[in-house]
Amino acid sequence: MGLLGWVRDLMSGEDAAEVAPPPKPRPPQERRRVDLRKAINAVSDVVQNRPRPLRVFDQIHMKTGDMVLQSETIADWSDGKRLAFIGDGDAISVCIAYLQARGVLDFGPSQITVFDFDERTVEAVMNFADRERITNLDARLYNVLDAIEPDRPYACFYTNPPWGASNNGESVNVFVQRGIEVTGHVGEGVVVIADDDDLPWPKEVLASVQGFAARHRFYVSRMQRKLHEYHLDDAPELKSCNLYLAALPGNASPGPSLPITDPLRLENFYGLSQPPTVRYVRARKRLDYGVAHEDEYELELLESGRERDH
Ligand SMILES: C[S@@+](CC[C@H](N)C(=O)[O-])C[C@H]1O[C@@H](n2cnc3c(N)ncnc32)[C@H](O)[C@@H]1O
Repeated sequence: MGLLGWVRDLMSGEDAAEVAPPPKPRPPQERRRVDLRKAINAVSDVVQNRPRPLRVFDQIHMKTGDMVLQSETIADWSDGKRLAFIGDGDAISVCIAYLQARGVLDFGPSQITVFDFDERTVEAVMNFADRERITNLDARLYNVLDAIEPDRPYACFYTNPPWGASNNGESVNVFVQRGIEVTGHVGEGVVVIADDDDLPWPKEVLASVQGFAARHRFYVSRMQRKLHEYHLDDAPELKSCNLYLAALPGNASPGPSLPITDPLRLENFYGLSQPPTVRYVRARKRLDYGVAHEDEYELELLESGRERDH
């Protein structure tokens, strides 16, 4: 286990801390040395480059420390495989590729493709890959309601979808469906969704997603509970889990991927009575995300500054 793995285990919930036996000491030469400072600084570069979240489409960013740990976890899980992200406002895709490119992680997926309907996200991924000469990272403008037809199937998928509090997880299921399809129904996936012991709806959603996966002949191979926190003003305590899905042996595609049009599946997609009405979020202009936008502030000048102004 690397340093990041150790930190992740340490932070992965009170329950684990109460019951876990004390860790066995390991000889130092067995530890893979992950440079935590380099890892955090790399993720900080990615966060600087990320477009601001649009809450109306459930874009709510994961906290930075959790992104570091999540990136290592997902890089490890998808090591050597082709990985598709069905939506990725968090930019976990970019973190993983960048941590590999910087040599912070010496494992990770062979190819990463992000499918997202927000052109700002797609451009941010492409610009970052271009600037850092990351050749195994790309992104495509794609709406999850449209059929998904990859040139080649991916071995695994990752999604952090709208969490489906108002539709019993149906919006999660739509993203999971595309994930399953992108693997040709024979791969694996990680679904990041709400996980909270005190609220009823996350439990209902977890049950609904597990049922949906089972109906598509995918089983839950693992679950890492209450791992991630978000910049979520109205529910700062709400955490999410990693739900790992894997195809049952001999699974096969029941047919081609089709558009999703059933109004019952879509009526509360982004929240109560908020069905999807937008095909793509288009980028107005290419923004430099690291610096403040001119419409965010105005300058109140010193007297001397005013004189110079005239
Ligand atoms: C819904 S957000 C979930 C919160 C997550 N922490 C985030 O901000 O990435 C995940 C991603 O799904 C994308 N997304 C939302 N609706 C979509 C749609 N109809 N088709 C494709 N991607 C979509 C968003 O642009 C975002 O990047």
